[in-house]
Amino acid sequence: MIKVWDYIKEYESLRGEILEAVDQVFKDGTLIFGPKLAEFEEKFSKFNDCKYGIGVGNCTDAITIALRACKIGIGDEVITTSNTAVPTVTAIVNSGASVKFVDINEYSLMDVSKLANAITDKTKAIVPVHLYGQMCEMNTIMNLAKKNNLKVIEDCAQSHGATYFGKKAGSIGDIGCFSFYPTKIFGAYGDGGFISTNNEMLFDKMQRIRFLGMEKKKMSSGHWNGKYYAIEHGTNSRLDEVHAAILLKKLPYLNEWIDRRREIASRYNNELKELNIELPMEHPDNRHAYYIYVVAHKNRDEIMKSLAEKDIFLNISYPWPIHIMEAYKHFVCSKCTCLPKTEEQAKKIFSLPMYPTLTDEEQSIVIKELKNLI
Ligand SMILES: Cc1ncc(COP(=O)(O)O)c(C=O)c1O
Repeated sequence: MIKVWDYIKEYESLRGEILEAVDQVFKDGTLIFGPKLAEFEEKFSKFNDCKYGIGVGNCTDAITIALRACKIGIGDEVITTSNTAVPTVTAIVNSGASVKFVDINEYSLMDVSKLANAITDKTKAIVPVHLYGQMCEMNTIMNLAKKNNLKVIEDCAQSHGATYFGKKAGSIGDIGCFSFYPTKIFGAYGDGGFISTNNEMLFDKMQRIRFLGMEKKKMSSGHWNGKYYAIEHGTNSRLDEVHAAILLKKLPYLNEWIDRRREIASRYNNELKELNIELPMEHPDNRHAYYIYVVAHKNRDEIMKSLAEKDIFLNISYPWPIHIMEAYKHFVCSKCTCLPKTEEQAKKIFSLPMYPTLTDEEQSIVIKELKNLI
């Protein structure tokens, strides 16, 4: 069987290191807010070329906390794309703001030529989603944000290690938000998330918000260590020591894993280019990290069904744009015609197996079966 994503081979190769790291955390006796989280926050911030980093429970929380730190709330509008994972929009709605969708371009990313028209007096932020492992056109986004006094919160859930003009995902906007959901380019063995920023004030505020709005305060008795005291309304979203320790073990391999993803993508590109199938495009300013390898074909359902019969399992990210979903369709007018590319893509996209431990032999089988079919 060839899965679209698989972590078992990765775990087998790192099992000794990971179990040792977990055992060490258990023996050391600090399970939350300990030295592993501090070390991971420092090292992953460095990886992202950012000054500050905060480990949180997941990326949905990361985006929610980022928006709250930017004082975005009821009555405000936030611009994003509709061909994203639901949590991008969940987080915006969590903040109290409403969502404005712009269409996508030929790279399946925010069409920045549509951005200026989408900005209104109520717009307070842009959330560009660096989808599938490729970054949005950040120069235009940042210029428009500066001109209109908007915050930019990069959704980097799918783009660890990706670059745009050599700059890392999460290092260009005001804040970058990452997911360590297991399937991601850099996945934990459970939930996890991260916030990166170069802004010290936002960093302080987000650190507080992720932990119930608390700071350590001395008691009137002069208690030497201080006690937790909420100075603003926050939430509870922490990356625990066990996951920080596991991610610390995985971090040294991240660049080499992204190189392997790029190698797999390059082979798909070369071997499928003669077929009647749309292949993903990499913008020349970008280094795509290939979280997933997304192709498009009008007969995708038949293709997926036929390959599943041969034990090759593909996936669709995402079959429904957010703006047609019951929960969020009120953000567009009832007969929405302004997101044609988003809707067209959703009908035909699907992803091929992509993960660093996919073997050459497995990839050959996928390519051969696709060639037989198309
Ligand atoms: C683009 C995007 N944004 C946000 C998220 C949310 O991540 P998490 O599951 O860590 O909350 C995901 C994960 O599915 C995602 O793909």
